[in-house]
Amino acid sequence: MVAGAKVDSHLLVVFGGLGDLAQRKLIPAIYSLQSQSRLGSSSAVLAVDTLTDMDDDSYRSSLLEASASYAVDYGRWCGSTIHYAGVSGSESDYAQLSLRVRELEQRHSLPGNRIFYLAVPPAAVVPIVQSIHASGLVSVHGWTRLVLEKPFGHDLASARDLNHGLHEFFDEESIYRIDHYLGKETVQNLLAFRFANSMFEHLWNSDHVESIEITATESIGVGNRAAYYDSSGVVRDMVQNHLCQLMSLVGMEPSESFDARHLRQQKLRFLDSVAPAARDQSVLGQYSEGIVDGAQMLGYRQERGVPRDSRTPTFAAIRLEVNNERWAGVPFFLMSGKRLGSRHSHIAIQFRDACASIFRPHETTCGLRPNLLLVTLQPDEGFDIRFQVKQPGPEYLLSSQLLRFRYDEAFGPLPDAYESLLQDVALGTAAHFVCDAEIEAAWRVVEPLLQTDEEPLSYVAGSRGPSAMDTLGARWIDPEEFHNR
Ligand code: BG6
Repeated sequence: MVAGAKVDSHLLVVFGGLGDLAQRKLIPAIYSLQSQSRLGSSSAVLAVDTLTDMDDDSYRSSLLEASASYAVDYGRWCGSTIHYAGVSGSESDYAQLSLRVRELEQRHSLPGNRIFYLAVPPAAVVPIVQSIHASGLVSVHGWTRLVLEKPFGHDLASARDLNHGLHEFFDEESIYRIDHYLGKETVQNLLAFRFANSMFEHLWNSDHVESIEITATESIGVGNRAAYYDSSGVVRDMVQNHLCQLMSLVGMEPSESFDARHLRQQKLRFLDSVAPAARDQSVLGQYSEGIVDGAQMLGYRQERGVPRDSRTPTFAAIRLEVNNERWAGVPFFLMSGKRLGSRHSHIAIQFRDACASIFRPHETTCGLRPNLLLVTLQPDEGFDIRFQVKQPGPEYLLSSQLLRFRYDEAFGPLPDAYESLLQDVALGTAAHFVCDAEIEAAWRVVEPLLQTDEEPLSYVAGSRGPSAMDTLGARWIDPEEFHNR
Protein backbone atom coordinates (compact mmCIF):
# COMPACT_ATOMS: atom_id res chain seq x y z
CA MET A 1 0.00 0.00 0.00
CA VAL A 2 1.24 3.46 -0.80
CA ALA A 3 1.20 5.96 2.09
CA GLY A 4 -1.79 8.27 2.16
CA ALA A 5 -4.00 6.18 -0.15
CA LYS A 6 -7.70 6.36 0.61
CA VAL A 7 -10.13 3.44 0.84
CA ASP A 8 -13.57 3.84 -0.80
CA SER A 9 -16.51 2.61 1.29
CA HIS A 10 -17.66 -0.77 0.03
CA LEU A 11 -19.57 -3.96 0.72
CA LEU A 12 -17.48 -7.10 1.14
CA VAL A 13 -19.36 -10.24 0.13
CA VAL A 14 -17.58 -13.37 1.40
CA PHE A 15 -18.60 -16.63 -0.26
CA GLY A 16 -17.73 -19.56 2.00
CA GLY A 17 -18.75 -17.50 5.04
CA LEU A 18 -19.09 -20.60 7.23
CA GLY A 19 -15.62 -21.87 6.36
CA ASP A 20 -12.62 -21.81 8.61
CA LEU A 21 -10.80 -19.18 6.58
CA ALA A 22 -13.68 -16.70 6.72
CA GLN A 23 -14.47 -17.25 10.37
CA ARG A 24 -10.98 -17.44 11.81
CA LYS A 25 -8.97 -15.22 9.48
CA LEU A 26 -10.92 -12.94 7.17
CA ILE A 27 -13.62 -11.52 9.41
CA PRO A 28 -11.27 -11.02 12.39
CA ALA A 29 -8.86 -9.30 9.95
CA ILE A 30 -11.65 -6.91 8.82
CA TYR A 31 -12.48 -6.24 12.45
CA SER A 32 -8.87 -5.43 13.19
CA LEU A 33 -8.61 -3.15 10.14
CA GLN A 34 -11.80 -1.30 11.02
CA SER A 35 -10.80 -0.86 14.62
CA GLN A 36 -7.61 0.81 13.37
CA SER A 37 -9.71 2.96 10.94
CA ARG A 38 -7.91 1.39 7.98
CA LEU A 39 -10.99 0.48 5.92
CA GLY A 40 -12.65 3.74 4.98
CA SER A 41 -15.46 5.58 6.68
CA SER A 42 -18.06 2.85 6.35
CA SER A 43 -17.97 -0.69 5.09
CA ALA A 44 -20.07 -3.77 5.77
CA VAL A 45 -19.70 -7.50 5.30
CA LEU A 46 -22.19 -9.97 3.88
CA ALA A 47 -21.18 -13.59 4.49
CA VAL A 48 -22.71 -16.05 2.04
CA ASP A 49 -22.89 -19.82 2.36
CA THR A 50 -25.12 -22.71 1.37
CA LEU A 51 -26.88 -23.07 4.74
CA THR A 52 -30.23 -21.43 4.08
CA ASP A 53 -31.83 -21.63 7.53
CA MET A 54 -29.35 -19.34 9.22
CA ASP A 55 -29.94 -15.68 9.98
CA ASP A 56 -27.69 -12.74 10.81
CA ASP A 57 -27.81 -13.40 14.55
CA SER A 58 -26.99 -17.09 14.40
CA TYR A 59 -24.18 -16.36 11.95
CA ARG A 60 -22.75 -13.75 14.32
CA SER A 61 -22.90 -16.26 17.16
CA SER A 62 -20.97 -18.77 15.06
CA LEU A 63 -18.31 -16.12 14.50
CA LEU A 64 -17.99 -15.42 18.19
CA GLU A 65 -17.61 -19.14 18.88
CA ALA A 66 -14.91 -19.45 16.22
CA SER A 67 -12.96 -16.50 17.62
CA ALA A 68 -13.62 -16.91 21.31
CA SER A 69 -10.46 -15.01 22.15
CA TYR A 70 -11.89 -11.69 20.90
CA ALA A 71 -13.44 -9.43 23.48
CA VAL A 72 -16.87 -7.85 23.86
CA ASP A 73 -15.98 -5.27 21.20
CA TYR A 74 -15.85 -7.95 18.53
CA GLY A 75 -19.43 -9.02 19.37
CA ARG A 76 -20.63 -5.42 19.19
CA TRP A 77 -18.83 -4.85 15.92
CA CYS A 78 -20.27 -8.08 14.40
CA GLY A 79 -23.74 -6.92 15.43
CA SER A 80 -23.44 -3.72 13.43
CA THR A 81 -21.30 -4.82 10.47
CA ILE A 82 -21.80 -8.51 9.65
CA HIS A 83 -24.77 -9.98 7.81
CA TYR A 84 -25.51 -13.42 6.44
CA ALA A 85 -27.30 -14.80 3.37
CA GLY A 86 -27.94 -18.48 2.61
CA VAL A 87 -27.59 -19.23 -1.11
CA SER A 88 -28.09 -22.75 -2.40
CA GLY A 89 -27.02 -21.84 -5.92
CA SER A 90 -30.37 -21.46 -7.71
CA GLU A 91 -31.17 -18.50 -9.93
CA SER A 92 -33.83 -17.27 -7.54
CA ASP A 93 -31.37 -17.40 -4.62
CA TYR A 94 -29.00 -15.19 -6.55
CA ALA A 95 -31.83 -12.81 -7.41
CA GLN A 96 -32.57 -12.59 -3.66
CA LEU A 97 -28.88 -12.05 -2.97
CA SER A 98 -28.82 -9.19 -5.41
CA LEU A 99 -31.74 -7.52 -3.60
CA ARG A 100 -30.06 -8.10 -0.26
CA VAL A 101 -26.86 -6.49 -1.47
CA ARG A 102 -28.74 -3.39 -2.57
CA GLU A 103 -30.69 -3.26 0.67
CA LEU A 104 -27.46 -3.43 2.73
CA GLU A 105 -25.83 -0.78 0.59
CA GLN A 106 -28.72 1.53 1.37
CA ARG A 107 -28.75 0.67 5.05
CA HIS A 108 -25.01 1.33 5.43
CA SER A 109 -25.02 4.28 2.99
CA LEU A 110 -22.55 2.59 0.68
CA PRO A 111 -21.93 3.95 -2.82
CA GLY A 112 -22.09 0.59 -4.63
CA ASN A 113 -18.46 -0.58 -4.51
CA ARG A 114 -18.37 -4.35 -4.11
CA ILE A 115 -15.72 -6.92 -3.26
CA PHE A 116 -16.61 -10.58 -3.86
CA TYR A 117 -14.24 -12.78 -1.88
CA LEU A 118 -14.44 -16.44 -2.89
CA ALA A 119 -13.19 -18.57 0.01
CA VAL A 120 -14.66 -21.69 -1.58
CA PRO A 121 -13.37 -25.00 -3.06
CA PRO A 122 -11.92 -24.64 -6.59
CA ALA A 123 -14.83 -26.38 -8.32
CA ALA A 124 -17.25 -23.77 -6.98
CA VAL A 125 -15.33 -20.75 -8.32
CA VAL A 126 -16.48 -20.48 -11.94
CA PRO A 127 -20.17 -21.30 -11.19
CA ILE A 128 -20.25 -18.57 -8.51
CA VAL A 129 -18.54 -16.06 -10.80
CA GLN A 130 -21.01 -16.92 -13.53
CA SER A 131 -23.97 -16.43 -11.15
CA ILE A 132 -22.59 -13.12 -9.85
CA HIS A 133 -22.53 -11.94 -13.40
CA ALA A 134 -25.90 -13.36 -14.46
CA SER A 135 -27.78 -12.00 -11.44
CA GLY A 136 -26.62 -8.44 -11.96
CA LEU A 137 -24.44 -8.40 -8.84
CA VAL A 138 -21.63 -6.66 -10.69
CA SER A 139 -21.90 -3.07 -9.56
CA VAL A 140 -23.26 -0.47 -11.93
CA HIS A 141 -22.52 2.55 -9.73
CA GLY A 142 -19.09 1.72 -8.35
CA TRP A 143 -16.24 -0.72 -8.78
CA THR A 144 -16.38 -4.51 -8.45
CA ARG A 145 -13.40 -6.64 -7.38
CA LEU A 146 -13.09 -10.40 -7.26
CA VAL A 147 -10.78 -12.05 -4.73
CA LEU A 148 -9.73 -15.68 -5.16
CA GLU A 149 -7.97 -18.09 -2.85
CA LYS A 150 -5.58 -20.76 -4.02
CA PRO A 151 -5.39 -23.36 -5.50
CA PHE A 152 -5.49 -21.81 -8.96
CA GLY A 153 -5.87 -24.98 -10.93
CA HIS A 154 -4.32 -28.37 -10.44
CA ASP A 155 -1.77 -28.14 -13.23
CA LEU A 156 -0.95 -25.86 -16.16
CA ALA A 157 -3.91 -26.91 -18.31
CA SER A 158 -6.51 -26.50 -15.55
CA ALA A 159 -4.99 -23.15 -14.51
CA ARG A 160 -5.36 -21.92 -18.10
CA ASP A 161 -8.97 -23.12 -18.15
CA LEU A 162 -9.67 -21.36 -14.87
CA ASN A 163 -8.12 -18.11 -16.05
CA HIS A 164 -10.08 -18.35 -19.26
CA GLY A 165 -13.33 -19.06 -17.34
CA LEU A 166 -12.76 -16.02 -15.10
CA HIS A 167 -11.91 -13.71 -17.97
CA GLU A 168 -15.26 -14.41 -19.56
CA PHE A 169 -16.83 -12.43 -16.73
CA PHE A 170 -14.13 -10.27 -15.17
CA ASP A 171 -11.19 -8.25 -16.50
CA GLU A 172 -7.80 -9.27 -15.22
CA GLU A 173 -7.55 -5.83 -13.51
CA SER A 174 -10.49 -6.65 -11.22
CA ILE A 175 -9.18 -10.09 -10.18
CA TYR A 176 -7.08 -10.38 -7.00
CA ARG A 177 -5.49 -13.83 -6.59
CA ILE A 178 -4.33 -14.25 -3.02
CA ASP A 179 -1.02 -15.78 -2.09
CA HIS A 180 -0.93 -15.05 1.63
CA TYR A 181 2.90 -15.10 1.62
CA LEU A 182 2.76 -11.86 -0.38
CA GLY A 183 0.90 -10.24 2.51
CA LYS A 184 3.67 -11.01 4.99
CA GLU A 185 5.68 -7.92 5.93
CA THR A 186 8.90 -9.89 5.69
CA VAL A 187 8.09 -10.84 2.10
CA GLN A 188 7.04 -7.32 1.13
CA ASN A 189 10.31 -6.16 2.64
CA LEU A 190 12.28 -8.15 0.06
CA LEU A 191 11.71 -5.30 -2.41
CA ALA A 192 12.93 -2.71 0.06
CA PHE A 193 15.85 -4.89 1.00
CA ARG A 194 16.96 -5.28 -2.57
CA PHE A 195 16.10 -2.00 -4.19
CA ALA A 196 16.42 0.50 -1.34
CA ASN A 197 19.88 -0.75 -0.33
CA SER A 198 22.35 -0.32 -3.12
CA MET A 199 24.99 -2.29 -1.23
CA PHE A 200 22.91 -5.47 -1.63
CA GLU A 201 21.57 -4.90 -5.11
CA HIS A 202 25.08 -4.55 -6.51
CA LEU A 203 26.03 -7.96 -5.14
CA TRP A 204 22.79 -9.62 -6.24
CA ASN A 205 24.10 -11.59 -9.23
CA SER A 206 26.16 -14.59 -10.28
CA ASP A 207 29.47 -12.73 -9.83
CA HIS A 208 28.94 -12.66 -6.08
CA VAL A 209 26.21 -15.15 -5.21
CA GLU A 210 26.98 -18.85 -5.16
CA SER A 211 23.48 -20.21 -4.47
CA ILE A 212 20.10 -19.27 -3.08
CA GLU A 213 17.99 -21.41 -0.77
CA ILE A 214 14.31 -20.77 -0.16
CA THR A 215 12.91 -22.93 2.59
CA ALA A 216 9.53 -23.27 4.31
CA THR A 217 9.51 -26.14 6.79
CA GLU A 218 6.56 -26.98 9.00
CA SER A 219 6.27 -29.18 12.05
CA ILE A 220 2.51 -29.61 11.61
CA GLY A 221 1.16 -32.56 9.64
CA VAL A 222 -1.79 -32.72 7.32
CA GLY A 223 -4.25 -32.10 10.20
CA ASN A 224 -7.89 -32.34 9.20
CA ARG A 225 -7.23 -31.34 5.57
CA ALA A 226 -6.47 -34.81 4.20
CA ALA A 227 -9.17 -34.62 1.53
CA TYR A 228 -7.64 -31.48 0.04
CA TYR A 229 -4.02 -32.29 0.76
CA ASP A 230 -3.90 -35.81 -0.59
CA SER A 231 -4.97 -34.63 -4.02
CA SER A 232 -2.47 -31.76 -3.88
CA GLY A 233 0.73 -32.63 -2.07
CA VAL A 234 3.54 -30.26 -1.22
CA VAL A 235 4.33 -29.21 -4.80
CA ARG A 236 0.83 -27.85 -5.40
CA ASP A 237 0.30 -26.71 -1.82
CA MET A 238 3.53 -24.78 -1.23
CA VAL A 239 5.98 -24.83 -4.14
CA GLN A 240 3.87 -23.71 -7.12
CA ASN A 241 2.60 -20.70 -5.19
CA HIS A 242 4.45 -19.52 -2.07
CA LEU A 243 7.96 -20.67 -2.97
CA CYS A 244 7.74 -19.65 -6.62
CA GLN A 245 6.53 -16.21 -5.54
CA LEU A 246 9.41 -15.85 -3.09
CA MET A 247 11.83 -16.99 -5.76
CA SER A 248 10.56 -14.41 -8.24
CA LEU A 249 10.87 -11.57 -5.71
CA VAL A 250 14.43 -12.61 -4.94
CA GLY A 251 15.41 -13.14 -8.56
CA MET A 252 13.54 -10.50 -10.57
CA GLU A 253 15.13 -7.48 -12.23
CA PRO A 254 14.42 -4.03 -10.73
CA SER A 255 10.88 -2.85 -11.32
CA GLU A 256 10.19 0.63 -12.65
CA SER A 257 7.71 1.28 -9.84
CA PHE A 258 5.50 -0.34 -7.19
CA ASP A 259 2.77 -0.47 -9.76
CA ALA A 260 1.31 -3.98 -10.12
CA ARG A 261 1.85 -3.88 -13.87
CA HIS A 262 5.61 -3.24 -13.55
CA LEU A 263 6.18 -5.63 -10.67
CA ARG A 264 4.28 -8.47 -12.28
CA GLN A 265 6.08 -7.93 -15.56
CA GLN A 266 9.46 -8.40 -13.86
CA LYS A 267 8.35 -11.35 -11.74
CA LEU A 268 6.94 -12.99 -14.83
CA ARG A 269 10.09 -12.37 -16.84
CA PHE A 270 12.07 -14.05 -14.10
CA LEU A 271 9.75 -17.07 -13.85
CA ASP A 272 9.85 -17.43 -17.60
CA SER A 273 13.62 -17.76 -17.40
CA VAL A 274 13.49 -20.59 -14.83
CA ALA A 275 14.00 -23.99 -16.45
CA PRO A 276 11.28 -26.54 -15.62
CA ALA A 277 12.17 -28.66 -12.58
CA ALA A 278 14.06 -31.81 -13.49
CA ARG A 279 12.97 -35.01 -11.82
CA ASP A 280 16.59 -36.06 -11.22
CA GLN A 281 17.30 -32.71 -9.54
CA SER A 282 14.45 -33.07 -7.07
CA VAL A 283 13.70 -35.15 -4.02
CA LEU A 284 10.12 -35.92 -3.06
CA GLY A 285 9.35 -37.44 0.33
CA GLN A 286 6.52 -38.49 2.61
CA TYR A 287 6.63 -38.56 6.42
CA SER A 288 6.50 -41.74 8.41
CA GLU A 289 5.79 -41.90 12.13
CA GLY A 290 8.18 -40.18 14.47
CA ILE A 291 8.55 -37.70 17.30
CA VAL A 292 7.96 -33.97 16.91
CA ASP A 293 8.39 -31.63 19.90
CA GLY A 294 8.48 -34.62 22.22
CA ALA A 295 5.16 -36.08 20.99
CA GLN A 296 4.72 -39.26 18.97
CA MET A 297 3.20 -38.49 15.54
CA LEU A 298 1.49 -40.72 13.00
CA GLY A 299 2.97 -41.31 9.58
CA TYR A 300 1.19 -39.58 6.66
CA ARG A 301 -0.49 -42.80 5.51
CA GLN A 302 -1.89 -43.39 8.99
CA GLU A 303 -3.49 -39.92 9.18
CA ARG A 304 -7.30 -39.78 9.14
CA GLY A 305 -8.63 -39.56 5.59
CA VAL A 306 -5.35 -40.44 3.85
CA PRO A 307 -5.40 -43.60 1.68
CA ARG A 308 -3.07 -46.25 3.13
CA ASP A 309 -1.20 -46.50 -0.17
CA SER A 310 -1.03 -42.75 -0.90
CA ARG A 311 1.97 -41.59 -2.93
CA THR A 312 1.34 -37.91 -2.26
CA PRO A 313 4.60 -36.13 -1.40
CA THR A 314 4.65 -34.11 1.82
CA PHE A 315 8.24 -32.96 1.23
CA ALA A 316 10.06 -31.52 -1.78
CA ALA A 317 13.61 -30.34 -2.28
CA ILE A 318 14.30 -28.98 -5.76
CA ARG A 319 17.30 -27.55 -7.58
CA LEU A 320 16.34 -25.04 -10.27
CA GLU A 321 18.44 -23.37 -12.95
CA VAL A 322 17.75 -19.84 -14.14
CA ASN A 323 18.61 -19.01 -17.72
CA ASN A 324 19.30 -15.31 -17.65
CA GLU A 325 22.32 -13.08 -17.46
CA ARG A 326 22.03 -12.22 -13.78
CA TRP A 327 21.67 -15.76 -12.49
CA ALA A 328 23.38 -18.03 -15.02
CA GLY A 329 25.05 -20.85 -13.08
CA VAL A 330 23.52 -19.93 -9.70
CA PRO A 331 21.27 -22.73 -8.44
CA PHE A 332 18.03 -21.80 -6.69
CA PHE A 333 17.15 -24.49 -4.15
CA LEU A 334 13.56 -24.72 -2.94
CA MET A 335 12.54 -26.88 -0.01
CA SER A 336 9.32 -27.40 1.90
CA GLY A 337 7.83 -30.17 3.98
CA LYS A 338 5.34 -31.07 6.67
CA ARG A 339 6.15 -32.79 9.98
CA LEU A 340 9.76 -31.71 9.96
CA GLY A 341 11.72 -30.93 13.10
CA SER A 342 10.76 -27.24 13.21
CA ARG A 343 8.73 -24.49 11.58
CA HIS A 344 10.93 -22.06 9.75
CA SER A 345 10.70 -20.05 6.53
CA HIS A 346 13.79 -18.34 5.27
CA ILE A 347 15.82 -17.26 2.28
CA ALA A 348 19.56 -17.88 2.45
CA ILE A 349 21.76 -15.97 0.02
CA GLN A 350 25.10 -17.72 0.00
CA PHE A 351 27.85 -15.44 -1.26
CA ARG A 352 30.96 -16.73 -3.00
CA ASP A 353 34.20 -17.30 -1.12
CA ALA A 354 36.21 -14.13 -0.60
CA CYS A 355 38.89 -14.09 -3.24
CA ALA A 356 41.36 -12.24 -1.02
CA SER A 357 44.59 -14.09 -1.73
CA ILE A 358 45.99 -12.92 1.59
CA PHE A 359 43.98 -15.66 3.33
CA ARG A 360 43.99 -18.30 0.64
CA PRO A 361 47.07 -20.28 1.70
CA HIS A 362 45.72 -20.47 5.28
CA GLU A 363 42.06 -20.82 4.43
CA THR A 364 41.36 -23.85 6.59
CA THR A 365 43.61 -22.92 9.45
CA CYS A 366 42.44 -19.33 9.78
CA GLY A 367 38.73 -20.24 9.50
CA LEU A 368 37.76 -18.28 6.34
CA ARG A 369 34.05 -18.70 5.55
CA PRO A 370 31.92 -17.05 2.87
CA ASN A 371 29.37 -14.36 3.73
CA LEU A 372 25.78 -15.39 4.12
CA LEU A 373 22.61 -13.35 4.28
CA LEU A 374 19.75 -15.10 6.05
CA VAL A 375 16.34 -13.48 5.64
CA THR A 376 14.02 -15.06 8.20
CA LEU A 377 10.40 -14.81 7.08
CA GLN A 378 9.03 -16.56 10.19
CA PRO A 379 9.24 -17.01 13.12
CA ASP A 380 11.57 -14.45 14.71
CA GLU A 381 11.29 -12.29 11.60
CA GLY A 382 14.37 -10.38 10.57
CA PHE A 383 17.69 -10.86 8.88
CA ASP A 384 21.27 -11.70 9.72
CA ILE A 385 24.47 -11.21 7.81
CA ARG A 386 27.40 -13.48 8.55
CA PHE A 387 30.72 -11.75 8.20
CA GLN A 388 34.28 -12.41 9.23
CA VAL A 389 36.38 -10.65 11.84
CA LYS A 390 39.86 -11.25 13.14
CA GLN A 391 39.82 -12.83 16.54
CA PRO A 392 41.85 -10.81 19.03
CA GLY A 393 45.22 -12.39 19.69
CA PRO A 394 48.63 -12.96 18.18
CA GLU A 395 47.52 -15.54 15.57
CA TYR A 396 45.56 -14.53 12.49
CA LEU A 397 42.37 -16.45 13.24
CA LEU A 398 39.04 -15.44 11.73
CA SER A 399 35.72 -15.72 13.47
CA SER A 400 32.18 -15.58 11.97
CA GLN A 401 29.95 -12.97 13.55
CA LEU A 402 26.41 -11.86 12.81
CA LEU A 403 24.92 -8.47 12.01
CA ARG A 404 21.38 -8.81 13.20
CA PHE A 405 18.04 -7.06 12.64
CA ARG A 406 14.73 -8.16 14.21
CA TYR A 407 11.36 -6.66 13.27
CA ASP A 408 9.80 -6.93 16.70
CA GLU A 409 12.71 -5.09 18.30
CA ALA A 410 12.42 -2.24 15.80
CA PHE A 411 8.66 -2.09 15.17
CA GLY A 412 6.80 -4.37 17.61
CA PRO A 413 4.52 -7.21 16.47
CA LEU A 414 3.85 -7.53 12.73
CA PRO A 415 0.30 -7.35 11.33
CA ASP A 416 -1.40 -10.45 9.97
CA ALA A 417 -0.88 -11.05 6.24
CA TYR A 418 -4.63 -11.10 5.58
CA GLU A 419 -5.06 -7.64 7.06
CA SER A 420 -2.64 -6.09 4.64
CA LEU A 421 -4.03 -8.01 1.66
CA LEU A 422 -7.64 -7.12 2.45
CA GLN A 423 -6.70 -3.49 2.79
CA ASP A 424 -4.91 -3.63 -0.56
CA VAL A 425 -8.01 -5.07 -2.26
CA ALA A 426 -10.13 -2.28 -0.77
CA LEU A 427 -7.60 0.24 -2.06
CA GLY A 428 -7.40 -1.37 -5.48
CA THR A 429 -3.67 -2.00 -5.08
CA ALA A 430 -2.83 -5.21 -6.90
CA ALA A 431 0.95 -5.28 -6.45
CA HIS A 432 0.85 -8.05 -3.84
CA PHE A 433 -1.47 -10.31 -5.81
CA VAL A 434 -0.61 -12.81 -8.50
CA CYS A 435 -1.63 -12.33 -12.12
CA ASP A 436 -2.85 -14.98 -14.57
CA ALA A 437 0.43 -15.28 -16.47
CA GLU A 438 2.51 -15.70 -13.27
CA ILE A 439 0.26 -18.54 -12.15
CA GLU A 440 0.73 -20.29 -15.47
CA ALA A 441 4.50 -19.70 -15.51
CA ALA A 442 4.84 -21.23 -12.04
CA TRP A 443 2.84 -24.30 -13.09
CA ARG A 444 5.17 -24.69 -16.05
CA VAL A 445 8.17 -24.74 -13.68
CA VAL A 446 6.78 -27.41 -11.34
CA GLU A 447 4.80 -29.50 -13.81
CA PRO A 448 7.48 -32.22 -14.34
CA LEU A 449 7.17 -33.03 -10.64
CA LEU A 450 3.44 -33.62 -10.98
CA GLN A 451 3.79 -36.14 -13.74
CA THR A 452 5.29 -38.85 -11.58
CA ASP A 453 3.65 -41.67 -9.72
CA GLU A 454 6.90 -42.75 -8.09
CA GLU A 455 6.92 -43.79 -4.48
CA PRO A 456 8.11 -40.74 -2.46
CA LEU A 457 11.09 -41.33 -0.16
CA SER A 458 10.14 -41.93 3.41
CA TYR A 459 11.39 -39.58 6.14
CA VAL A 460 10.84 -39.80 9.86
CA ALA A 461 8.49 -37.20 11.36
CA GLY A 462 10.60 -34.69 13.28
CA SER A 463 13.65 -35.15 11.03
CA ARG A 464 15.04 -32.70 8.45
CA GLY A 465 13.62 -34.68 5.47
CA PRO A 466 14.93 -37.56 3.33
CA SER A 467 18.72 -37.73 3.35
CA ALA A 468 18.72 -37.78 -0.47
CA MET A 469 18.15 -33.99 -0.28
CA ASP A 470 21.90 -33.73 0.34
CA THR A 471 22.68 -35.02 -3.15
CA LEU A 472 21.33 -31.84 -4.77
CA GLY A 473 24.33 -29.71 -3.81
CA ALA A 474 22.62 -27.28 -1.44
CA ARG A 475 24.06 -26.39 1.94
CA TRP A 476 20.55 -26.45 3.48
CA ILE A 477 21.30 -23.80 6.04
CA ASP A 478 19.93 -24.82 9.42
CA PRO A 479 18.85 -21.58 11.14
CA GLU A 480 19.59 -22.92 14.60
CA GLU A 481 23.09 -23.97 13.69
CA PHE A 482 23.56 -20.70 11.83
CA HIS A 483 22.66 -18.64 14.89
CA ASN A 484 24.94 -20.72 17.09
CA ARG A 485 27.61 -20.45 14.37
C1 BG6 B 1 -0.97 -22.74 3.08
C2 BG6 B 1 -0.89 -24.24 2.88
O1 BG6 B 1 -1.08 -22.08 1.85
O2 BG6 B 1 0.22 -22.29 3.74
C3 BG6 B 1 -0.70 -24.95 4.20
O3 BG6 B 1 -2.08 -24.68 2.27
C4 BG6 B 1 0.51 -24.39 4.93
O4 BG6 B 1 -0.54 -26.35 4.01
C5 BG6 B 1 0.42 -22.87 5.01
O5 BG6 B 1 0.52 -24.96 6.23
C6 BG6 B 1 1.70 -22.29 5.57
O6 BG6 B 1 1.50 -20.93 5.81
P1 BG6 B 1 2.37 -20.17 6.89
O7 BG6 B 1 1.96 -18.76 6.76
O8 BG6 B 1 2.02 -20.79 8.23
O9 BG6 B 1 3.79 -20.44 6.53
